[in-house]
Formats: sequence, structure tokens, C-alpha cells
Amino acid sequence: MQTQFEFENAPDRRGNSSSKWQKYGDRDVIPLWVADMDFRTAPCVIDALAERVRHGIFGYTQPPAALPGAVVDRMSEDFGWAIDPDWIVWMPSLVVGLNVVSRAFAAQGEEIITATPIYPPFLSAPRYADRIATKVPLVEDAGRWLWDFDALEKSVTPKTRLVLLCSPHNPTGRVWTREELAALTAFCDRHDLVLVSDEIHAGLVLDADKTHIPIATIGNAESRTVTLQSASKTFNLPGLGCAFAIAPNAQLRAKLQSTMAGIVHHIGALGFFATLAAFRDGKPWQLALLDYLRANRELVETRLSSMPGIRTWHVEATYLAWIDARDLPVANAMAFFEDAGVGLYDGSLFDSPGFLRLNFACPRPLLTQALDRMQTAIGEL
Ligand SMILES: Cc1ncc(COP(=O)(O)O)c(C=O)c1O
Repeated sequence: MQTQFEFENAPDRRGNSSSKWQKYGDRDVIPLWVADMDFRTAPCVIDALAERVRHGIFGYTQPPAALPGAVVDRMSEDFGWAIDPDWIVWMPSLVVGLNVVSRAFAAQGEEIITATPIYPPFLSAPRYADRIATKVPLVEDAGRWLWDFDALEKSVTPKTRLVLLCSPHNPTGRVWTREELAALTAFCDRHDLVLVSDEIHAGLVLDADKTHIPIATIGNAESRTVTLQSASKTFNLPGLGCAFAIAPNAQLRAKLQSTMAGIVHHIGALGFFATLAAFRDGKPWQLALLDYLRANRELVETRLSSMPGIRTWHVEATYLAWIDARDLPVANAMAFFEDAGVGLYDGSLFDSPGFLRLNFACPRPLLTQALDRMQTAIGEL
């Protein structure tokens, strides 16, 4: 689809301290691993940042006055969730949030449930804090990844305190349905567990017939839920360090704040102003981005499904494709594709050895080149 926004003439990120591109240095490897996009962010964000930079003073900074309202509007207009601005707790990143909640809502030796495969910090955050990560594998049914509610029930012990939910789900790309979310909240009610929902991918639902539902909006879940959010995934701002928790329950909010006090750094001015511009003015760019990503998804799904030894799943949300490469006759699928010039994320980090994650948020010609390289390499086996 033709839009007023440009997703193809991206500036070269090599030599620009990009984590994604720096990983392979001078090697000819197309990096499709870490989850950021090879697109410039929305023009409204670039303009807001340019204006803030021109001001030239970068002292300690409060959230801009309009920012809480912009967050309230986004949650209400995008997801039908009426939040109170007082529920917002600013933090520099969601990974910080996952680590803070692991310390705030479980004690040493207590257990934190998460469904695997999963974005690695869901497993490392409990571990770093001497809490136990209890893994409940998702199950595959008719080509979709589902929660195993029987296994979930059996995973609870007297030491279980917290559930970490990823919604939409990285790496399977699932958008959880109302029924699935309701079953999870009922489970948390039954066992009196705190529910933390990482909703960083909520702005990246690709399927037209699906919507992201904040789990806090289901029944009375608000009282036991802390939602982690930011503009950074949708607007490609992870280098600016601005995120927030929405904690409607005053006790949970206070515990969150006391756990962060004196340790978690305040937000930088540029992160605040970028988030404000993205949430207030970024919708047309976001819609164009989703169109571009949908076409990339189509390309990835079509091309991967024609490669022998490879399985993938329909990506309902995110720009990440989850790949089962266990049938490829190679010892290490990630190293195999790296040698072929494509840098993917190793599934073992997500608790699924033999799987890979492919980030398709890059200009289509580059994505095509990466897929060509993968196909050629498999063809030569
Ligand atoms: C589910 C999920 N949570 C958190 C993050 C990272 O968020 P942040 O950069 O704010 O730490 C990512 C990045 O890919 C993610 O996929």
C-alpha cells in the first residue's frame, strides 16, 4: 500500500552503535535477531525530539504535563481501558519492570509462573533475584499455540506468588483471546496470585479480526494486575529508555515504587518527549507501519513455508516469526544460518532449543535477500 510514510530508504545502521547491526561487525550477515526495527520512527516523534534537542538543556526532567493524558487517551482509544493517571509508574524499560516485579511480588525462593517459549528476561528476572521461574510450556493445537490450563493448575505450589504474562506473546505472535485471558484471571483469583502483564507489543496486532485486550480489563482483574507498557516497540524507541507500569491497586503500586526507590533510574528527557509525541500524534504512522509489516509477514510466511525442514506459525501480532528448525539436518540451526549470512535469535534462549526467531521489521528488499540466503543454504544441504 502506498502511504505518505517511508519504510524503505532507511539510513544505514552500520557503524552507528546499533546493537542489532554491531553484533556482526564487518561480517556479511543480515541481522534479524533483536527486536528493533530498521525503520526511522514517526516524523512527529523526530520533530518533537529535534525541538527538545534544540532547547539544549537536559536537566532532571518530570513527565511533560500532557504525557499522562496522552497515555490515558491511548489506553482508552486503542483498548477501551479507562485508567487513572495516578496509576502510572514511570520506569526506564520493561526489562527493568520484569526484574522489579519479580522482587516486589515474590520473596527469595518463591515461585513465578510463566509460559514458555518466552522472551528471555521472563526467565532471567526471577533467576537474578533468587526467585524460581516455574515454566508451563504452551501447547500447539491446530497450528496455534495455546495455554495448557491443566499443566498451569498443576504447576501451583504453596510458594507460587506471581504470573508473568506476555500479551501479545513474544515469540509465538499470539493475540490472547478474551476467553483465554478470562481463564488466566480466574486461575489467578483461585490461587490469589499477582498478575503482571507485559503488553509492549499491544500496538502491533497485525490480524484485522483480532484486538489486543488488556488483561486488567477482564472482570475484576484490575485489582491484582500490574501492566507493563511503552511506546518503544511500536514506534521503535527502545534506545530512548521510557516505559511505564499501570498499577490500579494502591498496595501493589506502593510495593512497586518502594522496590524501585533509589535503584531504578529516572527517565531521560528525550524518552518522555518521544513517548508523548508517539502517543499523541503517531497514529497515522502506526497504521502505515502495520500495513508494511503485514506485507512483510505475508512474505515471510509464504517463503518459510516453502523451505523443507522449517516450520513456522501465523504471526497474529509482533514483527517476530517463530521457527521450528529441528528437522533441518544441521547440528546448530542458528550457526548454520549465520554462516549463510542471516543472523536469527537462538530459540534456546527462549527455552526452545532447535527453534529460531526471525525479526521481519526491516525494508522488504533486505528481508527478501535474507530469505533468499536461507532458501539457498537449505537447498545446498
Ligand atoms: C515482550 C517484551 N518485553 C520487553 C521487551 C524489552 O522492553 P524494554 O526495551 O523496554 O526493556 C521486549 C523487547 O523485545 C519484549 O519483546
